[in-house]
Amino acid sequence: MIEKINELLRQVEEFSPKAAAEVEEFRIRILGKKGELTALMDEFKSVAPELKRELGQKLNALKNEALQRINTLKEELQNAAADSASQVGDMTRPGTAEELGSRHPISLVKNEIVEVFARLGYTVADGPEIEDDQHVFSSLNFPPEHPARDMQDTFFIEKASSEPSEKDILLRTHTSSIQVRTMEHQKPPIRVICPGRVFRNEAISYRAHCIFHQIEGLYIDEGVSFADMKQSLLYFAKEIFGEQAQIRMRPSYFPFTEPSAEVDVSCNLCGGKGCPVCKGTGWLEIMGCGMVDPNVLKASNIDPEKYSGFAFGMGIERIAMLKYGVKDLRLYFENDVRFLHQFDDAL
Ligand code: PHE
Repeated sequence: MIEKINELLRQVEEFSPKAAAEVEEFRIRILGKKGELTALMDEFKSVAPELKRELGQKLNALKNEALQRINTLKEELQNAAADSASQVGDMTRPGTAEELGSRHPISLVKNEIVEVFARLGYTVADGPEIEDDQHVFSSLNFPPEHPARDMQDTFFIEKASSEPSEKDILLRTHTSSIQVRTMEHQKPPIRVICPGRVFRNEAISYRAHCIFHQIEGLYIDEGVSFADMKQSLLYFAKEIFGEQAQIRMRPSYFPFTEPSAEVDVSCNLCGGKGCPVCKGTGWLEIMGCGMVDPNVLKASNIDPEKYSGFAFGMGIERIAMLKYGVKDLRLYFENDVRFLHQFDDAL
């Protein structure tokens, strides 16, 4: 009998239930009317008198231990169940916040540039990404043999023959096509700013991509001069890069503007003294510009004797790289949230 008592005691000590229902089952098995301890109590009645004292004490100790253990386990498990129920069920608890996205740095810079020109009276114009030769090249005074019309530089969707043709369908290589579309539908005065994606057949590197963003400006009215252009672009540079920013213009060539210029802004890192970013020159190239070529005005039925105008175009990635000090253009396309989250506060 002493072995049976010890065995039951071991069972009571080792009992580790997962739910309150298991405890109740255990209680019935040990302490119930037909339980094992109850059976031992019956057996105790017929034990020899000289053993009664020792066995009686042992049985009492077992009974107390079993009762105590069952009660504490029941309480513990009931509390745990109530806790987890309240976690699911409490509708007044605050929810877990969804992680919010943020605006892409290219959109931030695009919006900023649009706002600067909106203050000068420009409105936003849009155009298709899939274009024809006429709007991307012919109407912009590109001669048929111009290298930009080559497969090397342009993604064609439909090409009539190996010769350039006005029927060719292609992905626009610059936003200047929106200039042409605006002039077709609008009479001067025209003052538009045209942001958009452009496509060029280029190898991808830290400074070039086959898809990027440009923003183009066009201003046509009576008596618009080179000085007007210079002043507008200086205003733009100061708004984007800060009051200390200066610009300079270098002669350049574009088929659709004459004269044409390349615009540099003073390096905002070294303040013009020369540093690795501006390659020691103190200046950073930011855009192309020029007075709209009379041939381009004529192609859109605008009288070049009466009207003149200027146009400018820049890469948004380039402006964003200079503004935020980003060294690799590819970061703008990879959508790595560790990169993108750095612009959360720029909203
Ligand atoms: N379209 C030119 C380019 O893609 C930029 C430009 C626009 C230059 C307007 C002059 C005037 O490089």
